[in-house]
Amino acid sequence: MTAFTIAIDGPAAAGKGTLSKAVAAHFGFAHLDTGLLYRAVGAKTLLGVEPIEAARALTAEDLEVEGLRTPDVAQAASRVAVIADVRSALVDFQRAFAMRAGGAVLDGRDIGTVICPDAKVKLFVTASAEVRAERRYLELSAKGDPSTRAQVLADVQARDARDMGRAEAPLKPAEDAVLIDTSDLSIEAAVAKAIAEINAKAG
Ligand code: DC
Repeated sequence: MTAFTIAIDGPAAAGKGTLSKAVAAHFGFAHLDTGLLYRAVGAKTLLGVEPIEAARALTAEDLEVEGLRTPDVAQAASRVAVIADVRSALVDFQRAFAMRAGGAVLDGRDIGTVICPDAKVKLFVTASAEVRAERRYLELSAKGDPSTRAQVLADVQARDARDMGRAEAPLKPAEDAVLIDTSDLSIEAAVAKAIAEINAKAG
């Protein structure tokens, strides 16, 4: 089979990760969570490494390190993601992944707009900031993270503002993206909707 790329973009905690994993499993495609690239670079900057240097030296093993899912690393990721040279250092890795035979699902912020403008299917997954913050709060508190609801909502809003407001590859739906608002959808319903869209485009 030739390359079949599915681009899934959207803001923090909209359900992209869960949706992307389910879609990849359903179609037997490989999945890349591109946020992990920015998180890995952000984590290195917290250790004192210069961001552009960290992005240029990034390896697949850096994506496996523990602790990339913490709120501090998420904010660091969002900060390094505004730097044009950081973003361009990560382009080749993402495009090579997208073109692999057998199909690929990439989720992030700029997959449908910048990384894979020719993706076969583009989905933009969103939900209200309050719903996203509540989901993230439940996730974090289950892991023992002490953040309060108000802190998590403030973090989500700060990341939204930075991700949508930056000059380089801002978060926005591609013109040909299909919107999936998960505010009032169960995971199962969102996955079913995504699969139906993909089947429609593939047919
Ligand atoms: O999806 P995530 O929460 O793991 O992403 C962490 C940060 O990385 C996010 O706030 C912005 C940045 N990011 C990006 O700029 N472009 C992507 N394709 C993926 C993530």
